[in-house]
Amino acid sequence: MEESKKVIFSGIQPSGNLTIGNYYGALKNWVKLQDEYDTYYCIVDLHAITVKQEPKELRRRTLEVLAIYLACGLDPEKNTIFIQSHIPAHSEAAWLLNCFTYTGELSRMTQFKDKSARYGESSISAGLLTYPVLMAADILLYNADLVPVGSDQKQHLEITRDIASRFNNLYSPTFKIPEPYIGKSGARIMDLQHPEKKMSKSADNPNSYILIMDPPEVIRNKINRAVTDTIGVVKYSDDQPGIKNLMDILSVATGKGIDEIEREYEGQGYAKFKKDVGEAIIEELLPVQNKVKEYLNNKDLLEAIYTKGSEKANYVARKTLSKMQRKIGFVAKSR
Ligand code: TRP
Repeated sequence: MEESKKVIFSGIQPSGNLTIGNYYGALKNWVKLQDEYDTYYCIVDLHAITVKQEPKELRRRTLEVLAIYLACGLDPEKNTIFIQSHIPAHSEAAWLLNCFTYTGELSRMTQFKDKSARYGESSISAGLLTYPVLMAADILLYNADLVPVGSDQKQHLEITRDIASRFNNLYSPTFKIPEPYIGKSGARIMDLQHPEKKMSKSADNPNSYILIMDPPEVIRNKINRAVTDTIGVVKYSDDQPGIKNLMDILSVATGKGIDEIEREYEGQGYAKFKKDVGEAIIEELLPVQNKVKEYLNNKDLLEAIYTKGSEKANYVARKTLSKMQRKIGFVAKSR
């Protein structure tokens, strides 16, 4: 029954081209949730503009992220797929929630501290500070039970829970308190040049990441250049973070277990291993890339899909927003 399904909300920013970190860490797992849960998958363009974006690129990437969602297997009949800026309630609820959030707690957020250090004092927007409040609005508007997020987003989910409880306590129960969703098989893909860091689409060196849309020869080159070590054995060990990461990638791409991979490459050095990692990624991504291109050549279909998604999203979001407005004490609009 529709009503008894738990609600899942997640989103990806169209602030850079998506990487295999997004693919293996999020998208591939989202697809597995689409039957069991009532899922909302958003393209969070309002979040993307917290740092400078080129308008043309932002528009292109927003549609590309949508095409990637679909190409990875998210079915628009089973999931509510939409673009954040199409739902005015996100901005409106974020303002309201801003007034129940303290500047102290926002300025202590790790991501804010990191990003503001990176972009420099004079170019830090207020949006970068209040980013977690918009994220709280995203989640709370849909009464999400579960939010699949990477470990870097745990703190944002924590503050969402704090803001929701604060509002509930001040007025009366309004928001569901969301929990993180910890996937069974989600892989955390690390930076190919600095395997102690998570792979990120905003890394400075393109050899740090593999994009979902990278052509085969680029993937081969990037895997070839991936940092390893001088130990020379394919072993899953914290002393070999580069190799460990490549093993994780090979494992999620092929379904082979880590033990199996260790056995397969025993006494072989890194050359063949790296070659196989590259080919496994290519084999998995090629069909996805072809579908993305097909979708991008069919803008009418994309438009129909995001329009349908925004109708459902808008309905649910507006309901929660009205509830918030009423509890806060705003005079109801005449209909
Ligand atoms: N902040 C998230 C990220 O950068 C993206 C995001 C925005 C999100 N709103 C969300 C994720 C709501 C989960 C739920 O990864």
